Amino acid sequence: MSCSGCTRRAAIAVLLLSTGRAFAKCTEKGIDVGALKSYPVGTFRLIEADVGRLIVARDDKGLYAYSAVCTHMGGAVYLADDHGTSVCPSHQSSFGPNGEVLRGPATRALPHFAVRTCEGRVLVDPTTVVAAEVRT
Ligand code: FES
Repeated sequence: MSCSGCTRRAAIAVLLLSTGRAFAKCTEKGIDVGALKSYPVGTFRLIEADVGRLIVARDDKGLYAYSAVCTHMGGAVYLADDHGTSVCPSHQSSFGPNGEVLRGPATRALPHFAVRTCEGRVLVDPTTVVAAEVRT
């Protein structure tokens, strides 16, 4: 004989398991750069991480992240305005909101890194370079 509560709990467990929601654990790797809700569209944020400087941003297509280490000679790029323009003070290279070169001497865009979200957090994986068009 089975109790009705036990049957209901078992049915819920089977449902959760079949949908993959049970035991959901964040196993994504990457640097935690803050809560997803703290990145509304139009955000550009400079992050000082142990592995280097990053710019994490969100446009109308999604989240993205790129290096804030200048591709000319490794200077520390900083955000110069609220529209995502960044500048390297070493030799005055500037970069657009997607890390593209606006002014040299740098000739290469700032490389983009994989971004993932997990349990309401934004994670950046600086070991995985992605195309500049990729959004999460
Ligand atoms: S190191 Fe950035 S412009 Fe030269």
